[in-house]
Amino acid sequence: MLRKRGSLIVCGTFLFVTWNAILVLLLWGRPPSGQSGEPGKEQSKLGKDPVVDVMEDVLRMADTFEAELEMQKKILLQIQSHHSLWEPPKGIGQKVVPSQTVIPILVIACNRVTVKRCLDKLLEYRPSAELYPIIVSQDCGHAETAEVISSYGNQLIHLKQPDLSDIAVRPEHRKFQGYYKISRHYRWALNQVFRSLSHTSVVIVEDDLEVAPDFFEYFGALHPLLKSDVSLWCVSAWNDNGKDGYVDPGKANLLYRTDFFPGLGWMLLRDLWEELEPKWPASFWDDWLRQPEQRRNRACIRPEISRTLTFGRSGVSLGQFFDRYLRYIKLNSEFVPFTKMDLSFLKEEMYREKFEKDVYSAPVVTYEDVKQGQLTGPGPFRLQYSTKNSFKTLAKNLGIMEDLKSGVPRTGYRGVVSFMSKGRRIYLAPPPGWTHYDPTWS
Ligand code: UD1
Ligand code: MN
Repeated sequence: MLRKRGSLIVCGTFLFVTWNAILVLLLWGRPPSGQSGEPGKEQSKLGKDPVVDVMEDVLRMADTFEAELEMQKKILLQIQSHHSLWEPPKGIGQKVVPSQTVIPILVIACNRVTVKRCLDKLLEYRPSAELYPIIVSQDCGHAETAEVISSYGNQLIHLKQPDLSDIAVRPEHRKFQGYYKISRHYRWALNQVFRSLSHTSVVIVEDDLEVAPDFFEYFGALHPLLKSDVSLWCVSAWNDNGKDGYVDPGKANLLYRTDFFPGLGWMLLRDLWEELEPKWPASFWDDWLRQPEQRRNRACIRPEISRTLTFGRSGVSLGQFFDRYLRYIKLNSEFVPFTKMDLSFLKEEMYREKFEKDVYSAPVVTYEDVKQGQLTGPGPFRLQYSTKNSFKTLAKNLGIMEDLKSGVPRTGYRGVVSFMSKGRRIYLAPPPGWTHYDPTWS
């Protein structure tokens, strides 16, 4: 809206200036008034002093200019009085989503009735049913869960994955049957969204995720960026290192690019699905996505403070991971008006330059300094690692995620992991001049 109004003003000003320029040119280029075609005046000029003649001309021109200016003033006043027509209608202005594209929310469900917690929050915060249709895709054929989902009536669309058969897997993968089913379900559900229902984007939410108040605001605001920046392939709601104490509580509006695919509430576009679908893996779809062949150097956007929280202790991965990390990830509670913010700083080139400047102009400190809280000054500070093991040791001791997938540390951007420690911003970073990840680091 604002942009449209701005361009109208620019147009108006342009017309005004052009009009004046044309007038000046016309008056300038006008033949001397002797040839003006007004017979009476022509007569009266005969025999006059040429200097007086020129002065009269100048005076007449000044008069014409004055009249013209008076007219211009009137036009401008009129424009001003119609100005209100360009403003967004009061009240609606607050709710404008910059991208008016429909972004469906795909909820992946199976056999947990607690999907209710996920759906209740989605419905509570959803600003528009038209722009954000909720599609629940249910696997597993669990009747009780199906009942819970159906109880929402036409507030959502309930799909059921039809193939509930067991999947033949090699014996040593029998315990991973669940991951095969998840992968099969994802493929089916995404085909429903993009092919049967013809949507062009989607936000995937698993049934054990609770969303933050500005969840829709976040994805709505980032949709245009995801569409326009081909070096991005996803927008995620998740910060893998987003524990309390590891994020800046005053920076709920802070966003990053990351080379690590975070998942856990994420948006993708149809083009990406068309690229991935033909080779979609039989299992472990998320780690497959993190491989260089799939990622192809593309990044995701992620927030400083997560816009999803996972409450799924009892799931396919059996909870150890949940108790050690996931349950501590902080959910954002403050509504950030992302759709009203300028997010162009996230575009690749600009972002990379600024990020590298920030990181590599930060003073280098030692692990002991950080650990003992002996850093002087406000920060940020840089902590350097140069081998896989030094990364892992530092990460473990500092309390951030130490695992790497295809060589990329969680939340990493160009090898750099940004987090808070004892109130200071720390960049755990490779030496300057980083060029690429080493997929053998795992
Ligand atoms: C973990 C990931 C998850 C990823 C999955 C696949 C975390 C916290 N979770 O799952 O994002 O998708 O690995 O690699 O990192 N489901 C089915 N069919 C089944 C079983 C489960 O559709 O037969 C659905 C569930 O409803 C859920 C999703 O798959 O939406 C993940 O299942 P969950 O049990 O939560 O497994 P995680 O260990 O969390
Ligand atoms: Mn889960």
